Amino acid sequence: DLPEEGKVTWKAPSNIALVKYWGKKENQIPANPSISFTLDACATRTSVSYSKKDTDTSQFSFDLLFEGKPKPDFKPKIQSFFERIEQYISFLKSYHFKIETSNSFPHSSGIASSASGMAALALCLVDIEKRLDPSIDKVFFNRKASFLARLGSGSACRSIEGDLIQWGSHKTIHGSSDLYGIKYPFKVNPVFKNFHDTILLVHKGQKQVSSSVGHNLMHSHPYAERRFTQAHENLDKLKSILETGDLEGFINVVESEALTLHAMMMTSMPYFILMKPDTLEIINKIWNFRATTDVPICFTLDAGANVHVLYPESVKEKAIQFIKDELVAHCENGHYICDRIGSGAKKC
Ligand code: PMV
Repeated sequence: DLPEEGKVTWKAPSNIALVKYWGKKENQIPANPSISFTLDACATRTSVSYSKKDTDTSQFSFDLLFEGKPKPDFKPKIQSFFERIEQYISFLKSYHFKIETSNSFPHSSGIASSASGMAALALCLVDIEKRLDPSIDKVFFNRKASFLARLGSGSACRSIEGDLIQWGSHKTIHGSSDLYGIKYPFKVNPVFKNFHDTILLVHKGQKQVSSSVGHNLMHSHPYAERRFTQAHENLDKLKSILETGDLEGFINVVESEALTLHAMMMTSMPYFILMKPDTLEIINKIWNFRATTDVPICFTLDAGANVHVLYPESVKEKAIQFIKDELVAHCENGHYICDRIGSGAKKC
């Protein structure tokens, strides 16, 4: 018997990919495996209140409040998410849901909230399911939340747990799956356990081409197959890099992955560019700083103009000083966010 009503709240973090997911098959199955750092400060907090419907269980019924206000343009996204997950969540049409969500990072900062947002919503739904079936254990819980989050937004499946998450089947990564993210199963050197990610907000506007359009353009892309193979190769390389704490090897893989992601955008048809002049200025300044100081600081990019600056705890002071002195001038209104590797979603 279903409970009449209740409420659950989860806070889920964003994540930043080291090996990028770009290109997908049907049902949000990734064309290549990826790996990411789970973030800490950038997160979405979502509450789902549920109350049993007496009549009409033929439709989904939900209200949506974003930062306290109704948000009609998010509704179709939730509607199609519900359609995709309906077969995996039996009670979805039995309740009316009130979804209240807010982000820790500023609205329209150019930081995608789809990963943290879909992860938080998926966690709430699995938590409601657990109330109906208390036999659900922690492993199943996280796996199902990741599985559902993936159906909302691919990279969201890497936002359930911390701190290093791998998604997509790869022959030498035991337990890896296209269906959900897993904790990276190999040894990771402590140097990668407290990495920092300072996110430089270069351009806060809406990007011209959405990720889903970008993923689709990989279907007819002349370099797609080679790229997918390269992602597997980079995951292989990362295994010893992560184990030994090889920062130079790490920088090579991570920066190459970022530029390859954007190279795929520039060489698709139609082609497009999401980097801005300031993105390139920042990259050049990072390279110059590294060459002259040997401080192991590097960049990565998402599908946008913002730059994620990655560095280990041991060089934190030097890195922050350099970022303030030289890079912040390239940020829109001087805005940046200090984030770091995090331990995953939390129930509130
Ligand atoms: O999760 P989506 O469909 O928004 O795709 C995001 C893909 C990248 O952020 C560009 C790379 C990644 O692996 O996160």
